Amino acid sequence: MKKITSETLRQTYLKFFESKGHKIIPSASLIPENDPTVLFTTAGMHPLVPYLLGERHPEGTRLTDVQKCVRTGDIEEVGDSSHLTFFEMLGNWSLGDYFKKEMIPWSFEFLTSPDYLGIAVEDIAVTCFAGDNDCPKDEESAKLWRECGILPQNIYFLPKSGNWWGPAGTTGPCGPDTEMHIIRNHAEADKLGEYDFDNAAGGTFLEIWNDVFMQYNKNAEGKYEPLKQKNVDTGMGLERTLCILNGKTSVYETDIFENAMKEIEALTGHKYGESEEVSKAFRVVLDHVRTATFMLGDVKGIVPSNTDQGYILRRIIRRAVRFGRNLGLPQGALSKVASNFINKYAEVYPELIRNANKIYEELEKEENKFSKTLQQGIREFEKVAASLANGALIDGVTAFHLYDTYGFPVEITVEMAAEKGLKVDVNGYEKAYAEHQEKSRAGSEQKFACGLADHKEETTRLHTATHLLHAALKKVCSPDIEQKGSNITEERLRFDFNFSRKLTPEEVAEVEKLVNEQIKLNVPVVMKEMPLAEAKEQGFTGLFESKYGEKVKTYSVGEFSKEICGGPHAEFTGELGTFKIAKQENVSAGVKRIKAVLIKG
Ligand code: ALA
Repeated sequence: MKKITSETLRQTYLKFFESKGHKIIPSASLIPENDPTVLFTTAGMHPLVPYLLGERHPEGTRLTDVQKCVRTGDIEEVGDSSHLTFFEMLGNWSLGDYFKKEMIPWSFEFLTSPDYLGIAVEDIAVTCFAGDNDCPKDEESAKLWRECGILPQNIYFLPKSGNWWGPAGTTGPCGPDTEMHIIRNHAEADKLGEYDFDNAAGGTFLEIWNDVFMQYNKNAEGKYEPLKQKNVDTGMGLERTLCILNGKTSVYETDIFENAMKEIEALTGHKYGESEEVSKAFRVVLDHVRTATFMLGDVKGIVPSNTDQGYILRRIIRRAVRFGRNLGLPQGALSKVASNFINKYAEVYPELIRNANKIYEELEKEENKFSKTLQQGIREFEKVAASLANGALIDGVTAFHLYDTYGFPVEITVEMAAEKGLKVDVNGYEKAYAEHQEKSRAGSEQKFACGLADHKEETTRLHTATHLLHAALKKVCSPDIEQKGSNITEERLRFDFNFSRKLTPEEVAEVEKLVNEQIKLNVPVVMKEMPLAEAKEQGFTGLFESKYGEKVKTYSVGEFSKEICGGPHAEFTGELGTFKIAKQENVSAGVKRIKAVLIKG
């Protein structure tokens, strides 16, 4: 196995797939485009869903990238040696191009060749789909692995719960996957039969890569039909792979965190590894500051707030402040730690450098805000805790008071309570919150389950309406208006944009009039592919980064609306119906939100 830095691993992966005819595409934003099912991009395939469903990608049918991802399902677990909320996923895709017989030998070559990762064949185990009443056993993948040289005793089979990727319970493309693992404990692995993979003692195997073979479509009757366009979607976690290749026991000991770790040591006088408690605090600060840096520095950067993505950001910054205080991290230290990440990733994610000042300012602002009330809040919490017996429940009104007065996100209160053997009545908290706030934050939590953005006609039409609304807002309110967020369901569109105030009733009427005029004119929605630079020159707007001089898709509605966008869209504006603004909301001081609908007929 080769010792390797994060920079080399990224380059090695991309170059390998470039040599196999893939185009390198840049990482998409951490904030998904038009997908109401998730708050953040959670895997490399996520921004590519439209293309996996059959849209043409301007760069062709073989793609590779390194995608920024955030998964926030278990923030409380961060602090142990393996959990991360941010990670990079190395991936490659076949959009109806190659399939298993190319992908498996490539995976084998990349993992084992001395020119690439150089992992010994006997240290690799793979799992394949075991088959069930819906779909047959994936003998083809197992055979391909054997032909490559994977030892037959290291090939295992797992049911849908382990080796299947796709929509759970809903419809859409799906298929078996095959996962590659490093064998860490040969004696244990040797005891297992081919269906016993899940019975292995913890730490026997470490997963390194996943190749998903999308070959079925699950239809509305729950039947699995073969797909016309068969895709490959693969994902390799960069941090975890680095950790394994370099023989480290924790992702936090890789080069990614090295400088930031030294900074915390210098700022606090503590050493990572000094005690488990200290190491935990280091890891919380390292992970959360890195994630916050990427969220704030994203092209569609978000800021701390009380809803959706902004709430998650607030929660992780505040959790970092709390654990940082345990280490004696001085006020203002988070942005010092962040500067190490900005420098470390400068080449790969130049948006972090461009947005460095914003990252520092927002971190400092949020840290200041929370620091003011943190000590008092902790005292208040201690008082409540002291009055309760072990295992007792902190009531919802108290939890809400800690949030409302001292800024403790309820998840932090839950965590602090658990440290004292107490519980929190979270339902009671939600009720108290809902009573005090116009809008409950609860909805955001429901969006964590990963899913496919749908391409139903209603959604597609609302997507086109979003472009028309964006263009109309620029004309009526300000040419400086930019999209700050978009979220489309079958029923409505939601569009966030930079503007300092709500629109007046006259402006609302004017925006509706302009959009409806375009609909009446029944203008064709024209898609063209062109290099990014050319699209910008022609006045197409879009929050896109260019690192590889790639081609992009553009959509225009005459000269009225010109946007860089992945699609899909309605073919003619006449399909849209009547556009109506349903609601305006305040997202933050500089960001407003419009919800709008299309009325049929
Ligand atoms: N989409 C697959 C994953 O996330 C590759 O594991």
